Amino acid sequence: MDRTDNNILFHKMFHIEGGDFTSAGLISDQVKKILREGGFPKKVIRRISIATFEAEMNVICYATRGDLSLFIAHHFLKIVVDDEGDGIPDINLAMSDGYSTADEKIRELGFGAGMGLPNIRRNTDEMVLTSTFRQGTHLEFIIYLERQKNMLPFE
Ligand SMILES: Nc1ncnc2c1ncn2[C@@H]1O[C@H](COP(=O)(O)OP(=O)(O)OP(=O)(O)O)[C@@H](O)[C@H]1O
Ligand SMILES: [Mg+2]
Repeated sequence: MDRTDNNILFHKMFHIEGGDFTSAGLISDQVKKILREGGFPKKVIRRISIATFEAEMNVICYATRGDLSLFIAHHFLKIVVDDEGDGIPDINLAMSDGYSTADEKIRELGFGAGMGLPNIRRNTDEMVLTSTFRQGTHLEFIIYLERQKNMLPFE
């Protein structure tokens, strides 16, 4: 089978509340747990966990609310995040290393290095980021899987 086979074997959606820093990382932890239980390769889990954490934090830092979905298919893992909020006026600028509009509060919590979106791009095989200014942002990324014999829970 080739990469065009996109039958979804598993889907779970998580809600993210903007500004809720006490929940930071909880969703990427849950995604990691699901993938560990699914027996996915450590390297794949590490890459998608990093990208998912950065996506989750951006909703918490910059949006009002959002939904993050994990999709597991035979040949890929995919995360889709839709949020409502201010959106991103200039995607290219936002994607560049070190660019951040994080305020003092966000920086005090250790975020705002401007490396989240570049990190997502580096850790994934495909990434799409679109945004409507003053409405919200859509982000999705994919990691392709090589077939593993021990992925039975999702066969
Ligand atoms: N979901 C979003 N909604 C609105 N703006 C966003 C969103 N995601 C990113 N941005 C904007 O893009 C900028 C760059 O995001 P990126 O994740 O690369 O860095 P950061 O969040 O500022 O810092 P870091 O991720 O290193 O903690 C942000 O500072 C913010 O202005
Ligand atoms: Mg970020």
